[in-house]
Parts: sequence; structure tokens; C-alpha cells
Amino acid sequence: MSVLDVVIMAAGKGTRMKSSLPKVLHPLAGKALVQHVIDTAQTLNARHTIVITGHGAEQVEAALLQANASAGLQFARQMPQLGTGHAVQQTVPLLADDGVVVVLSGDVPLTQANTLQALIDACAGTRLALLTLNMPDPTGYGRIERNASGAVQAIVEHKDASEAQRAIREIYSGIMAVPAKLLKTWLARLDNHNAQNEYYLTDVVKFAVADGVAVVAHTIDDAAQVAGVNSPVQLAELERTHQLRVARALMEQGVRLIDPSRLDVRGMLRCASDVHIDVNCVFEGVVELGAGVKIGANCVIANCTIHAGAVIHPFTHIDGEKLGVSVGEGALIGPFARLRPGAQLGAEVHIGNFVEVKNSTLAQGAKANHLAYLGDATVGERVNYGAGSITANYDGANKHRTVIEADVHIGSNCVLVAPVTIGAGGTVGGGSTITKSTEAGALSVARGKQISIANYKRPVKKK
Ligand code: UD1
Ligand code: MG
Repeated sequence: MSVLDVVIMAAGKGTRMKSSLPKVLHPLAGKALVQHVIDTAQTLNARHTIVITGHGAEQVEAALLQANASAGLQFARQMPQLGTGHAVQQTVPLLADDGVVVVLSGDVPLTQANTLQALIDACAGTRLALLTLNMPDPTGYGRIERNASGAVQAIVEHKDASEAQRAIREIYSGIMAVPAKLLKTWLARLDNHNAQNEYYLTDVVKFAVADGVAVVAHTIDDAAQVAGVNSPVQLAELERTHQLRVARALMEQGVRLIDPSRLDVRGMLRCASDVHIDVNCVFEGVVELGAGVKIGANCVIANCTIHAGAVIHPFTHIDGEKLGVSVGEGALIGPFARLRPGAQLGAEVHIGNFVEVKNSTLAQGAKANHLAYLGDATVGERVNYGAGSITANYDGANKHRTVIEADVHIGSNCVLVAPVTIGAGGTVGGGSTITKSTEAGALSVARGKQISIANYKRPVKKK
């Protein structure tokens, strides 16, 4: 087994994206295009992963260093950008002679690791291995030219190809595996005498043939794995292709999707058995759904664990960010609920419409069913938290906690000014502003006393 080094070309301009964001940083499934390529490359256990940057180099490098802090990425700058061969020439000082180099493109996000492994196997440490594909419409791609006995002779770029060569359906994917030592000798021989005046990486094939080195094509039939992104339309098409594959994989595990074309997973979604997901749901970050969980239509759920049997009603927004959100067994959430970082909900908790929960723990059976805010609160078992009530957790400078002990009943439209504790079993009358902690079992009312004036006459308008 040879040592692997991965080279990712990401210096091109991406003119057709018509965007100030460098093309390779545009997201697919919530992750930069080039990050997909890096993540796949990581699974190959490469010794070095070198990203070639040029257009928007500072922005690309900064984004990748942040996202891959511990991955030991290396960068090679290509200024100006004179073609794919010129791009790979910039990595020569970083490449040891003993390895096999896998060349990838930062704008081809969906190549699978097993495809790359098969290509590496085809290279076998000695050959030039090209990933190829037969396309009904090969316009724009480099064509694989073979001789009468079928041996690969050259890659001819579309713009340089004759009519006869343009009829060839087998195209080069832009992905190759090649022994580093040979690659270096071939890169040194490239010129730019072609239709685009560029240094073509694909010219190494001619040199391999001339040097008597075997050239092998590993041909796949899954076009999505080699599809590149050049325009917003292609990006959206590839996003759908990817999402449909994710949806299919989930259904094959037993997940019930009402419509696989209306699901978006931008991260990792893990599902136990008998999960139901209605239409137009978006999952981000890491989301885990326990057995029998039901997700209603139009939910956005990020960084959250939802335990068995919980039901998330439509239009609920959950984002655990870094702290996470946990929804207990059999809990009922929404419709129109909002769970923010640090919401830890126990079993059978009910959170109803227009209720926001942030950095709060709710014990088993606690309920906040309508129009309420719970922030920095610890809520005991079976608490009933009335409509319109809020914890005033922020004094303008610091956040404080509210403790609501077990079996408390908070009436409607209360303000609990933190720090404050409502003792177990206590009751707070509707409309109260509570600023002092209350004893267990007490009824607390803090509002203007009602007065009623009998037979009151309303003023009448003067004539
Ligand atoms: C390339 C191949 C073509 C193949 C096609 C597959 C060459 C000469 N041609 O063509 O045979 O069918 O990919 O998609 O290699 N890049 C740089 N620096 C540069 C130029 C490009 O880093 O100076 C990067 C781009 O950012 C991109 C990749 O290389 O990630 C491919 O470049 P692109 O211009 O898209 O090459 P194609 O013309 O598509
Ligand atoms: Mg391209």
C-alpha cells in the first residue's frame, strides 16, 4: 500500500456563480462545497491534504482553517490561475516522491469515498488512474481518447477537440490518482499551446503514454459523483440530488417521509425506528430522533435530541446551537413553539403555541401551553405555567435564574423577576409581578387590588 496525498484544486474564479463569495465556499447541504471534498478525503487517511487556493485565497483559507482546525490542512497559492496543470504545479514543493497523489476539485462535492478508493486501487502505486464516466451529452468536458485496442491515449479538452473527438461520450471527471514521482516529471513538461492558452493537467496522459506508463480508466455510471458546480442552477440541482439520496437512505432505514422531495438535511440526522416526518422540514447540525418520534410539517430543527414518542407539531423552531436542546419522552411541542440553546425538557412536558424556552430545565410533566417565555429557569415536575407569563431573567447587565418548584401553578400574565424561587406547590395569581421568593404552598398575588364602583355612569359627549 502506498502513502496517499490529496490535492484539492480550489483556485478557480467561479465566474458563473455571479457572487462575491468564492465558488468553493458556497454551501451544499449546509456545508461549503470544498468542505465536502475535504471530508471525503479525510476518510481516505491521507498523509497530507493540500488545498490549492487562488481566487479569494484569503477568504477560502480562513474559512477552511476555522472549519478544520485539527486536520493539518496545507495550502498552496496559485497566482495567477493559469490552468489545472499550473495549479497542481504549485503543490510540487509540498509533495514527497513516495506517495500516490489523488487530485480532486473543490467544486465537485458528491464523490464517494469508495469511488476514490477504487481509483486508488486502480493506480496501484504505479499507474495513472483516471475517473471517467459515459455521458449522453459530454459538451464541455475533456474526452477520453482510446486506441483501436481500447487503451487510453489522451484526454482532449472540448475546446481543442475535433468533430470526431467531440463525438466521444466518455469524459474525464477531473479526478485522478497518480504516483507523485511520475506526476512531478510530467508537470515539468506541460505547456500552454492549446485553445485556452492554459496549462492543462490532462496533458499528463500523453506523457504517461509516451513514457510507457500504464493509463487506466476507472469508469462509474453515477454522474452526480463527478458533477461540478459552476452556476446557481447547477448548485440547486446538485442540492436536490443530494437531498433525495439522503431521503432515500432514511426511508431504507425505515423512516416514514411523507414526501422525500420536501426534506432538507444539512448535517447529520439519526433516526430510531418508526419516525415520521411530514413535509418541508429542515434538519441542521446533529439531530437525533428517538423511536416513534413524529415531526409535523414545516419544522426547522437543529442540534437537538428528541426522545422516544415525542411529537413536534407543525411550524416549530428548535436550535440547540452549541448547548443543545433535549426533548423528553412523550413530550408534546408546538405548533409554533421555539426551543433555544439549553432547553432541557423532561418526559411528558408540554410546550404549546408561541412559547419560547431558553437555557431552562423542565422536569417531567411540566406544562407551558400558550404565549410564554421561560429563560434561565429551573421548573419542577407537574408545574403549570400560565398563558402570557414570563421570566424576567435579564436585569440589563446580568442574567439570573428563576426556580419554580414542583407542582407550582403560575397563573396567566405573570412576571417572575429573577432571581426568585416559587416554593413547591405554590400558586401565583394571574397578573402578578413576583419580585420576592415565595413559601411552599403559598398563594401569592402581586397586583393592584380590584375596585368596583357600583352604578358607574360613563361620561357622555357634549352637544
Ligand atoms: C477540467 C478538465 C476536464 C474535465 C473537467 C471535469 C482540465 C484541463 N480539464 O475542465 O478534462 O472534463 O475538469 O469537470 O483539467 N482550477 C484551479 N486553477 C486554475 C484552473 C482551475 O485551481 O488555474 C480549479 C478550479 O477551481 C476547479 C478545477 O480546477 O475546481 C477544475 O477547473 P475548471 O476550470 O472547472 O476545469 P474544466 O474546464 O471544467
Ligand atoms: Mg469545471
